[in-house]
Amino acid sequence: MSLRILIFICFLTILKFSSVASVTIECNYTMDYDEFYPCKVQNIDIFNGDRLFIEKAVGKHDKRKTDDDVEALWIDDANTKFFPRNINNVFKNLVLISIRNSSLIEITSDDLKVFPQLKTLILFKNQIEVIREDTFKFNPNLEHIYLNYNKISHIEPKSFSGLENLNFLLLNGNVCKFGYAEDREEVLEVITELVERKFCQSQKFQTNLGDEI
Ligand SMILES: *[C@@H]1O[C@H](CO)[C@@H](O)[C@H](O)[C@H]1NC(C)=O
Ligand SMILES: *[C@@H]1O[C@H](CO)[C@@H](O)[C@H](O)[C@H]1NC(C)=O
Repeated sequence: MSLRILIFICFLTILKFSSVASVTIECNYTMDYDEFYPCKVQNIDIFNGDRLFIEKAVGKHDKRKTDDDVEALWIDDANTKFFPRNINNVFKNLVLISIRNSSLIEITSDDLKVFPQLKTLILFKNQIEVIREDTFKFNPNLEHIYLNYNKISHIEPKSFSGLENLNFLLLNGNVCKFGYAEDREEVLEVITELVERKFCQSQKFQTNLGDEI
Protein backbone atom coordinates (compact mmCIF):
# COMPACT_ATOMS: atom_id res chain seq x y z
CA MET A 1 0.00 0.00 0.00
CA SER A 2 2.64 2.54 1.03
CA LEU A 3 4.74 1.46 -1.95
CA ARG A 4 1.83 2.33 -4.21
CA ILE A 5 1.56 5.74 -2.63
CA LEU A 6 5.29 6.25 -3.08
CA ILE A 7 5.05 5.29 -6.73
CA PHE A 8 2.12 7.64 -7.13
CA ILE A 9 4.08 10.52 -5.60
CA CYS A 10 7.04 9.77 -7.87
CA PHE A 11 4.69 9.76 -10.82
CA LEU A 12 3.23 13.15 -9.86
CA THR A 13 6.71 14.59 -9.40
CA ILE A 14 7.81 13.39 -12.82
CA LEU A 15 4.61 14.72 -14.34
CA LYS A 16 5.18 18.11 -12.76
CA PHE A 17 8.79 18.48 -13.90
CA SER A 18 8.33 17.06 -17.36
CA SER A 19 5.34 19.22 -18.22
CA VAL A 20 5.42 22.73 -19.63
CA ALA A 21 6.27 25.52 -17.22
CA SER A 22 3.39 26.68 -14.99
CA VAL A 23 3.01 30.39 -14.51
CA THR A 24 0.75 32.95 -12.88
CA ILE A 25 -0.38 35.87 -14.99
CA GLU A 26 -0.90 39.33 -13.53
CA CYS A 27 -3.96 41.03 -14.94
CA ASN A 28 -5.08 44.59 -15.24
CA TYR A 29 -8.89 44.33 -15.26
CA THR A 30 -9.54 48.00 -16.01
CA MET A 31 -12.21 48.63 -18.66
CA ASP A 32 -11.07 51.42 -20.96
CA TYR A 33 -12.94 51.46 -24.23
CA ASP A 34 -13.49 47.74 -23.99
CA GLU A 35 -16.58 45.95 -25.10
CA PHE A 36 -15.76 42.96 -22.90
CA TYR A 37 -14.52 42.74 -19.31
CA PRO A 38 -10.78 42.19 -19.90
CA CYS A 39 -7.66 40.73 -18.38
CA LYS A 40 -4.74 42.62 -19.86
CA VAL A 41 -1.64 40.63 -19.03
CA GLN A 42 0.97 42.81 -17.33
CA ASN A 43 3.87 40.47 -16.55
CA ILE A 44 4.80 39.83 -20.18
CA ASP A 45 8.35 38.88 -19.12
CA ILE A 46 7.10 35.43 -17.99
CA PHE A 47 6.95 34.45 -21.67
CA ASN A 48 10.24 32.78 -22.54
CA GLY A 49 9.62 31.44 -26.03
CA ASP A 50 8.28 28.05 -24.90
CA ARG A 51 4.69 26.99 -24.44
CA LEU A 52 3.46 28.11 -21.02
CA PHE A 53 0.84 26.56 -18.79
CA ILE A 54 -1.20 29.36 -17.22
CA GLU A 55 -2.00 28.12 -13.74
CA LYS A 56 -3.84 31.13 -12.38
CA ALA A 57 -4.42 34.83 -12.69
CA VAL A 58 -3.94 37.50 -10.03
CA GLY A 59 -4.91 41.16 -9.99
CA LYS A 60 -7.55 43.49 -8.59
CA HIS A 61 -10.96 42.73 -10.03
CA ASP A 62 -13.68 45.33 -10.49
CA LYS A 63 -16.28 45.27 -7.75
CA ARG A 64 -18.21 41.98 -7.68
CA LYS A 65 -16.34 40.59 -10.69
CA THR A 66 -14.48 37.30 -10.65
CA ASP A 67 -12.37 35.29 -13.08
CA ASP A 68 -15.61 33.87 -14.48
CA ASP A 69 -16.65 37.35 -15.64
CA VAL A 70 -13.54 37.82 -17.75
CA GLU A 71 -14.53 37.79 -21.42
CA ALA A 72 -11.39 39.08 -23.09
CA LEU A 73 -7.72 38.17 -22.70
CA TRP A 74 -5.13 40.59 -24.07
CA ILE A 75 -1.47 39.62 -24.41
CA ASP A 76 0.86 42.06 -26.18
CA ASP A 77 4.56 41.97 -27.08
CA ALA A 78 5.06 38.47 -25.68
CA ASN A 79 7.94 36.16 -26.52
CA THR A 80 5.80 33.07 -27.09
CA LYS A 81 6.15 30.75 -30.07
CA PHE A 82 3.17 28.66 -29.02
CA PHE A 83 -0.32 29.37 -27.78
CA PRO A 84 -0.37 29.09 -23.97
CA ARG A 85 -2.26 26.19 -22.39
CA ASN A 86 -4.93 26.03 -19.67
CA ILE A 87 -6.27 29.58 -20.13
CA ASN A 88 -9.70 28.01 -20.54
CA ASN A 89 -9.57 26.70 -16.96
CA VAL A 90 -8.55 30.07 -15.55
CA PHE A 91 -11.08 32.12 -17.53
CA LYS A 92 -14.03 29.95 -18.45
CA ASN A 93 -16.03 32.49 -20.43
CA LEU A 94 -13.65 34.06 -22.91
CA VAL A 95 -15.16 35.36 -26.15
CA LEU A 96 -12.10 37.34 -27.24
CA ILE A 97 -8.46 36.29 -27.24
CA SER A 98 -5.74 38.60 -28.46
CA ILE A 99 -2.03 37.83 -28.74
CA ARG A 100 -0.53 40.76 -30.65
CA ASN A 101 2.95 41.74 -31.71
CA SER A 102 4.32 38.50 -30.30
CA SER A 103 6.23 35.55 -31.71
CA LEU A 104 3.61 32.85 -32.38
CA ILE A 105 4.79 30.55 -35.16
CA GLU A 106 1.59 28.53 -35.37
CA ILE A 107 -2.07 28.37 -34.45
CA THR A 108 -3.77 24.98 -34.36
CA SER A 109 -7.12 23.38 -33.63
CA ASP A 110 -5.56 21.93 -30.47
CA ASP A 111 -4.91 25.47 -29.26
CA LEU A 112 -8.45 26.62 -30.00
CA LYS A 113 -10.69 23.64 -29.36
CA VAL A 114 -11.17 24.53 -25.68
CA PHE A 115 -12.81 27.86 -26.62
CA PRO A 116 -16.02 26.82 -28.41
CA GLN A 117 -17.67 30.15 -27.56
CA LEU A 118 -14.88 32.29 -29.05
CA LYS A 119 -16.09 35.21 -31.20
CA THR A 120 -12.94 37.24 -31.78
CA LEU A 121 -9.40 36.00 -32.34
CA ILE A 122 -6.71 38.65 -32.75
CA LEU A 123 -3.27 37.39 -33.80
CA PHE A 124 -2.06 40.61 -35.39
CA LYS A 125 1.70 40.78 -35.99
CA ASN A 126 3.12 37.34 -35.26
CA GLN A 127 5.20 34.83 -37.26
CA ILE A 128 2.48 32.43 -38.43
CA GLU A 129 3.22 30.88 -41.85
CA VAL A 130 0.44 28.40 -42.50
CA ILE A 131 -3.28 27.97 -41.74
CA ARG A 132 -4.50 24.37 -41.77
CA GLU A 133 -7.98 23.34 -42.78
CA ASP A 134 -9.03 22.15 -39.29
CA THR A 135 -7.69 25.18 -37.39
CA PHE A 136 -11.07 26.75 -36.57
CA LYS A 137 -13.24 23.66 -36.69
CA PHE A 138 -14.14 23.81 -32.98
CA ASN A 139 -14.93 27.55 -33.05
CA PRO A 140 -18.10 27.90 -35.12
CA ASN A 141 -19.02 31.19 -33.42
CA LEU A 142 -16.02 33.12 -34.67
CA GLU A 143 -17.08 36.49 -36.09
CA HIS A 144 -13.77 38.36 -36.26
CA ILE A 145 -10.34 37.00 -37.12
CA TYR A 146 -7.23 39.17 -37.33
CA LEU A 147 -4.26 37.41 -38.91
CA ASN A 148 -2.78 40.53 -40.47
CA TYR A 149 0.97 41.11 -40.46
CA ASN A 150 2.08 37.53 -40.09
CA LYS A 151 4.13 35.51 -42.59
CA ILE A 152 1.29 33.48 -44.08
CA SER A 153 2.21 31.86 -47.41
CA HIS A 154 -0.17 28.90 -47.31
CA ILE A 155 -3.85 28.57 -46.41
CA GLU A 156 -5.59 25.26 -46.91
CA PRO A 157 -8.60 26.06 -49.12
CA LYS A 158 -11.48 25.34 -46.72
CA SER A 159 -9.88 26.79 -43.60
CA PHE A 160 -12.59 29.46 -43.16
CA SER A 161 -15.44 27.74 -45.01
CA GLY A 162 -17.28 26.40 -41.95
CA LEU A 163 -17.43 29.75 -40.17
CA GLU A 164 -20.92 30.95 -40.97
CA ASN A 165 -20.78 33.95 -38.66
CA LEU A 166 -17.44 35.23 -39.86
CA ASN A 167 -17.93 38.80 -41.04
CA PHE A 168 -14.49 40.29 -40.49
CA LEU A 169 -11.24 38.70 -41.68
CA LEU A 170 -7.94 40.56 -41.86
CA LEU A 171 -5.17 38.82 -43.79
CA ASN A 172 -3.32 41.82 -45.18
CA GLY A 173 0.42 42.16 -44.59
CA ASN A 174 1.23 38.51 -45.28
CA VAL A 175 3.24 36.74 -47.98
CA CYS A 176 -0.02 35.99 -49.82
CA LYS A 177 -1.60 39.27 -50.85
CA PHE A 178 -5.09 39.78 -49.45
CA GLY A 179 -7.29 42.84 -49.13
CA TYR A 180 -9.54 43.63 -46.22
CA ALA A 181 -12.71 41.61 -45.67
CA GLU A 182 -14.85 43.76 -43.43
CA ASP A 183 -18.31 42.35 -44.01
CA ARG A 184 -19.85 38.98 -44.77
CA GLU A 185 -19.85 39.56 -48.52
CA GLU A 186 -16.13 40.34 -48.58
CA VAL A 187 -15.39 37.34 -46.36
CA LEU A 188 -17.27 35.14 -48.83
CA GLU A 189 -15.12 36.55 -51.66
CA VAL A 190 -11.97 35.52 -49.78
CA ILE A 191 -13.41 32.07 -49.08
CA THR A 192 -14.30 31.67 -52.78
CA GLU A 193 -10.81 32.69 -53.85
CA LEU A 194 -9.26 30.19 -51.47
CA VAL A 195 -11.52 27.32 -52.46
CA GLU A 196 -12.14 27.88 -56.16
CA ARG A 197 -8.96 29.57 -57.29
CA LYS A 198 -6.74 27.75 -54.78
CA PHE A 199 -5.25 31.06 -53.81
CA CYS A 200 -2.42 31.14 -51.25
CA GLN A 201 -0.67 27.83 -51.76
CA SER A 202 2.98 27.22 -51.04
CA GLN A 203 4.93 24.15 -52.02
CA LYS A 204 6.57 24.19 -48.61
CA PHE A 205 3.32 23.38 -46.80
CA GLN A 206 1.58 21.01 -49.23
CA THR A 207 0.54 17.86 -47.43
CA ASN A 208 -0.52 15.79 -50.46
CA LEU A 209 2.04 16.77 -53.04
CA GLY A 210 0.86 16.21 -56.58
CA ASP A 211 -2.70 15.76 -55.43
CA GLU A 212 -4.03 19.29 -55.65
CA ILE A 213 -1.86 21.40 -57.91
C1 LIG B 1 -4.42 49.43 -15.56
O1 LIG B 1 -4.72 50.08 -16.78
C2 LIG B 1 -5.20 51.41 -16.62
C3 LIG B 1 -5.54 51.97 -17.95
O2 LIG B 1 -5.82 51.01 -18.88
C4 LIG B 1 -4.15 52.26 -15.97
O3 LIG B 1 -4.66 53.56 -15.77
C5 LIG B 1 -3.76 51.63 -14.64
O4 LIG B 1 -2.68 52.36 -14.10
C6 LIG B 1 -3.34 50.20 -14.81
N1 LIG B 1 -3.12 49.60 -13.51
C7 LIG B 1 -1.97 49.02 -13.17
C8 LIG B 1 -1.91 48.45 -11.80
O5 LIG B 1 -1.02 48.97 -13.94
C1 LIG C 1 6.32 45.06 -30.44
O1 LIG C 1 7.03 44.38 -29.44
C2 LIG C 1 8.36 44.81 -29.27
C3 LIG C 1 9.00 43.96 -28.19
O2 LIG C 1 8.89 42.61 -28.50
C4 LIG C 1 8.39 46.29 -28.89
O3 LIG C 1 9.73 46.72 -28.78
C5 LIG C 1 7.65 47.08 -29.93
O4 LIG C 1 7.55 48.42 -29.49
C6 LIG C 1 6.26 46.53 -30.13
N1 LIG C 1 5.63 47.22 -31.24
C7 LIG C 1 4.43 47.72 -31.16
C8 LIG C 1 3.92 48.36 -32.41
O5 LIG C 1 3.77 47.68 -30.15
